[in-house]
Amino acid sequence: MKILVLHSDIAANAPPEELDTLIAAEAVATVLASRGHAVEQAAFRQESLKELLARSAPDIVFNLVEGVHGQGRLAPLAPEMLAALGVRFTGVSAKAMAVTNDKPLTKRMLREAGLATPGWAAPPDWSGLDGGQWIVKSALEDASLGLDDGCVVQGPQVLARAAASAAKFGGSWFAERYVEGREFNIAVLGSKDSWQVLPMAEMRFEQWPAGKPRIVGYDAKWEEDSSGWRGTVRVFGVEQGEPALAAKLKSACDQVWRLFALSGFARVDFRVAEDGTPLILEINTNPCISPDAGFAAAAQEAGLSYDALIEAIVRAA
Ligand SMILES: Nc1ncnc2c1ncn2[C@@H]1O[C@H](COP(=O)(O)OP(=O)(O)O)[C@@H](O)[C@H]1O
Ligand SMILES: [Mg+2]
Repeated sequence: MKILVLHSDIAANAPPEELDTLIAAEAVATVLASRGHAVEQAAFRQESLKELLARSAPDIVFNLVEGVHGQGRLAPLAPEMLAALGVRFTGVSAKAMAVTNDKPLTKRMLREAGLATPGWAAPPDWSGLDGGQWIVKSALEDASLGLDDGCVVQGPQVLARAAASAAKFGGSWFAERYVEGREFNIAVLGSKDSWQVLPMAEMRFEQWPAGKPRIVGYDAKWEEDSSGWRGTVRVFGVEQGEPALAAKLKSACDQVWRLFALSGFARVDFRVAEDGTPLILEINTNPCISPDAGFAAAAQEAGLSYDALIEAIVRAA
């Protein structure tokens, strides 16, 4: 097949969470070429996409566009335009991406469908905010943007923190009830009608500095020499060790896949409440697919090599 690996258009001095898409693109292109496909890599630009497709004439586009002009909220432009131009592409539809990129909207849909997610309060009315512990996070951006050691605050500090984050990073910020419990990041792979929940990864917090919020913050994801990076450890085995909890996690993933009409590859992030209920934090459609990221680790755990994973994503499109 002729495959066009389409990635975000990124400046050389972009932050690490944006440069990551280039690492993924390189790895995906290398795998596909080694499997005998004719591969081309290109950056997504709205104004020249049509010409690019006409010239490249791909059978399929491997969509790795995570943002446009550095904004995650614009990422759905890529699948929207590809669909309008009648091109086959990997991953989710523009609609599924737009909905799941919007955390408060996703949470409202989860609640309405009877799926558990932590309570939240969002502007403009902030209704429901009380004196408890809250995490202030971006409504539309991911990659733990703005999640530093000061993002977990008491109710009365929420508005000031949200204003400070908006001033620093732009965009809209909301508060979600802070859940201290265990964290799971679960990879799901497949097509709209047939999918598999891959081995479930728990993110453990080890030798964690006292007073530092137990979260996978910006440092844990992107700063290799930080205490957050060193202290977050991925562990598999909940299916064997705690089948009842694993069944609840799997059932929630299955329902999420159906509810949002997902396809390709997605990761669902959970925290487990004190009573043992898994609470959905967010849904990552087209999550990071670099060889060293969580999705590839889950595939590996399932006996699926990186090559086989990339090929499976192409086949599911
Ligand atoms: N309500 C919450 N309670 C506890 N920790 C949270 C909560 N929301 C987010 N976190 C922590 O912050 C991390 C990033 O938040 P998440 O909602 O997954 O956004 P994203 O990964 O898109 O930046 C999570 O992996 C988790 O460690
Ligand atoms: Mg997340």
